[in-house]
Amino acid sequence: MDLNALMAGRLESARRRSLDLLAPVPDDGLVRQHSPLMSPLVWDVAHVGNYEEQWLLRALGGSAVGPQWDSVYDAFRHPRRDRPALPMMGPAEARHYAAVVRGRVLDLLERLSLDDGPTRTLPRSSRGKAPTQSAPPPASDLTPGAFVHGMVVQHEHQHIETMLATLNLAEPTDWLPTAPATPSGGIVSGEVLVDGGPFVMGTDTEPWAYDNERPAHVVDLAPFWIDAAPVTNGEYLAFVESGGYQDPRWWSAAGWAWREESGLAHPGGWTSDGAASWSQIRFGRRHDLALDEPVEHVCWHEADAFAQWAGKRLPTEPEWEKAASWGSDGHKRRYPWGDDDPAPALANLGQRHLGPAPVGAYPAGVSPWGCHQMIGDVWEWTASELLAYPGFASFPYREYSEVFYASGYRVLRGGSWATDPTAIRATFRNWDYPIRRQIFAGFRCARDA
Ligand code: AVJ
Ligand code: FE
Repeated sequence: MDLNALMAGRLESARRRSLDLLAPVPDDGLVRQHSPLMSPLVWDVAHVGNYEEQWLLRALGGSAVGPQWDSVYDAFRHPRRDRPALPMMGPAEARHYAAVVRGRVLDLLERLSLDDGPTRTLPRSSRGKAPTQSAPPPASDLTPGAFVHGMVVQHEHQHIETMLATLNLAEPTDWLPTAPATPSGGIVSGEVLVDGGPFVMGTDTEPWAYDNERPAHVVDLAPFWIDAAPVTNGEYLAFVESGGYQDPRWWSAAGWAWREESGLAHPGGWTSDGAASWSQIRFGRRHDLALDEPVEHVCWHEADAFAQWAGKRLPTEPEWEKAASWGSDGHKRRYPWGDDDPAPALANLGQRHLGPAPVGAYPAGVSPWGCHQMIGDVWEWTASELLAYPGFASFPYREYSEVFYASGYRVLRGGSWATDPTAIRATFRNWDYPIRRQIFAGFRCARDA
């Protein structure tokens, strides 16, 4: 199949996923703000369309559909909290707008030459210094290898994951999503030893890697131990029940201040009827707490406190990536299991389920060192702040990554059960503030060898 047809299909499956997710949601559920941390869903719908108009139509010489909407749907200009007050499109108009954009994008895509040649090196120039409204790079820099189409496909899937996080915070209703149960797990515990020495961090060759994953560069690490699986609900419960939330010894100064201010006493979504019985609310439905599943909805401070309590620490970002993508053969893998694209037996991705699977559920996806579930299930907090790699150049716009560097964000790795397979790889970097836990995030621990 040629690259044009492949990208048309990827765009269509992202849109099918958006439409399927939102089809059961009544207009009121689309317009309402379910949490001040999240946009009204109808904002996401038109924002996805506007982003696509900007990058797959206007930047490539296509005709404009609604440039007057650029400001309302500029994520950088309007924090999520403030979005309900924007003069935005209603549900029908937003869906129509995104569909009209998509129709023109597919027409234009048929006529584009995507130059599917050998791996290209991204242009090194950082174009436009203004925080918003900078001119896009020329189309000839955007289309090789379908980079910009890959960017827009990933963008829609990232917003679908965000919309799932929004729906997970909604009051219980009968229109929240459902999905089949996860496969059962196995027994995975303990740590694996990762050799010291240099490895290649980041990528120059992944065709749709974002600017923040580039360039590839060598990082030399001391040997370290890392958990073979994400920390489970059962393990985390031991921290809760041993009084971990009441003991400042385990918390950083900022973490303890936040614990006091926020009153955190357990992960998001947990409720207890009394001493020994805990449940978990997901998408408005209550389940017994599954002790063998990775813990979810913990903020960075909670992850850090658990690690201290356990006599460990969070892995740094390079440690995480080496454990996920490197082996003693010195080959950089795209994924822990190798270079093949994700498949259902390898990782819990793409919203096939509505939560993480028990540890040990994907033995075929294990890394060379023996780490399970590094891709999929839960995003994993790392110790590291979001910073530029040496040699970083913003491309194709500063507001994807550059404006977030060195601003107190912590990096998360590996994707969650809600992440689409096309929007994750061993080099992919996500980030959020250390107090946030609305995302589908857990962690694993590490320690010096
Ligand atoms: C990388 C997940 C932090 O949601 O703000 C979406 C992704 N960038 N639209 C975000 C993104 C532009 C971004 N995160
Ligand atoms: Fe966006």
